[in-house]
Amino acid sequence: DWTMGAFRQEAIASIRAQVGSGRVLCGLSGGVDSAVAAVLIHEAIGERLTCVFVDHGLLRQGEAEEVVSLFRGHYNIPLVHVEAQDLFLGALTGIRDPEEKRKIIGRLFISAFEAEAKKIAADGRGAPEFLAQGTLYPDVIESVSFSGGPSVTIKSHHNVGGLPERMNMKLVEPLRELFKDEVRDLGRELGLPEAFVGRHPFPGPGLAIRCPGGITPEKLEILRQADAIYLDEIRKAGLYDEIWQAFAVLLPVQTVGVMGDGRTYEFVCALRAVTSVDGMTADFYPFGMGFLGRAATRIINEVKGVNRVVYDVTSKPPGTIEWE
Ligand code: XMP
Repeated sequence: DWTMGAFRQEAIASIRAQVGSGRVLCGLSGGVDSAVAAVLIHEAIGERLTCVFVDHGLLRQGEAEEVVSLFRGHYNIPLVHVEAQDLFLGALTGIRDPEEKRKIIGRLFISAFEAEAKKIAADGRGAPEFLAQGTLYPDVIESVSFSGGPSVTIKSHHNVGGLPERMNMKLVEPLRELFKDEVRDLGRELGLPEAFVGRHPFPGPGLAIRCPGGITPEKLEILRQADAIYLDEIRKAGLYDEIWQAFAVLLPVQTVGVMGDGRTYEFVCALRAVTSVDGMTADFYPFGMGFLGRAATRIINEVKGVNRVVYDVTSKPPGTIEWE
């Protein structure tokens, strides 16, 4: 009889066996996978784990604060919060191509992480020789099937690819055998708050790929506000758990509107929601028109900078989940 409780104990034993008396570094993305991996490893080796959270300034409203308070407050896990927002936003200025954005974010992420790892290595407690990653079973399969098949990469998801080799570290991947729903069960088993465990997946490059074309701090702020309202409406309607991912996209298009006596010329916001099992294929979520109307009205009334809202009814394939 296989239970998450048993998996937890086995995983802890195998982390201890692998790591011995060594130290582990774990990058937190703000997502469920890396958080569950970190909490599990912390249970196994205690303060020989150090978590590094590189804040690229591309997270959603309140997300960075949530991660920091969860780890430092709730779990008391040592966490370095690298405030790299200006670095990332500066490097992304004027960049419009989606893959270019991913490359810049990936490269900066690695260098910020490496710089932090060097500082940690110099703290007198010995250099960490292990790097933890929240790799899941579908990630393992995907990379295998890609390497054997035709070299078609639609999006380069490997944000930290090459990091362990470069830093000469060994990988600790305690979630390698699990699917997303199992990682969530394990998170519950480890006492992570339900609201955190049940969160939708969020891409490494964050809001950068939800702001098609050039990114500015102003656009990111508009997007954050619209996205928060949309998710609030989804939660209020009791639909959050039925949906795989839901988010707003700020389009690089301005349209004419009328507000009071005046003409407006502001951005279009697209709303996206899909159901999926593993993110490989997806169907658009069939909201009722009442819901969409409510969400659109709130966004237009409450977010300065948006005067039109549209809903994306594209499934995957032929669309992808993200717009970039
Ligand atoms: P697409 O847009 O390819 O997305 O249908 C499939 C899943 O992957 C996420 N995604 C990413 N995750 N780095 C990530 O870590 C990325 O560059 C990236 N691009 C897409 C997307 O949110 C969805 O869950």
